Amino acid sequence: MRKEPCLQSFLFLLEEGSSHYFDKEHYCYAGCQIVIQESIENFGAVVWPGALALCQYLESNQQEIDLKDKKVLELGAGTGLVSIVASLLGAYVTATDLPAVLENLKFNISKNMQNMNVHKTEVRKLVWGEDLDQNFPKSKYHYDFIVATDVVYHHAALDDLLTTMAYFGQPGTVLLWANKYRFSTDFEFLEKVNNIFNTTLIAEFPESNVKLFKGTIKEN
Ligand SMILES: C[S@@+](CC[C@H](N)C(=O)[O-])C[C@H]1O[C@@H](n2cnc3c(N)ncnc32)[C@H](O)[C@@H]1O
Repeated sequence: MRKEPCLQSFLFLLEEGSSHYFDKEHYCYAGCQIVIQESIENFGAVVWPGALALCQYLESNQQEIDLKDKKVLELGAGTGLVSIVASLLGAYVTATDLPAVLENLKFNISKNMQNMNVHKTEVRKLVWGEDLDQNFPKSKYHYDFIVATDVVYHHAALDDLLTTMAYFGQPGTVLLWANKYRFSTDFEFLEKVNNIFNTTLIAEFPESNVKLFKGTIKEN
């Protein structure tokens, strides 16, 4: 379900030099107005249905999923909507994506987080499966939650995505993964996730065909 803006007029100036961004969408979560700059440039530059589903779930289930002062890593953060909502709900968030997506991700996060009394959100490059040990050594990084929305679609990096989920899925870490189900390959990926994580379907969004799973790593 697409959330409607809670205030009609909200001045949101596109920064100089970002004229290739074509649209802005307004959302209201956690009592705050959020404005997201989108573009047609890449998959990560628009808000996908899985992101809306997870934001809605996080907002409505704050007791079950308590993000206050928790460390949250978002994989494939895209426009940053989920990271922004997690931050508004009190988390220390690290939003990650491919290099090409980071400029707009940083823009949305800084525009929406300025003057907010929340933990600072970090934006970092994270290419699935690449240099994880080097860039995110386990001795230093432990996340309470890994969040990922609509990261499973038709692309060649699904094995790398699974490797990345498993890498960050340390004991005690909760994976929250929301995805629109379109193709048989989406269900094949779910089976692979089930081999690594103890997974529960915690919500379904029939209007968008999104399923939300919660998982914890299987310990041997
Ligand atoms: C369909 S978009 C979803 C974006 C956002 N999570 C949402 O739900 O609105 C998929 C995201 O995964 C990112 N992505 C795709 N392949 C990736 C890879 N190999 N490493 C890191 N991120 C990747 C894309 O850049 C994009 O932001």
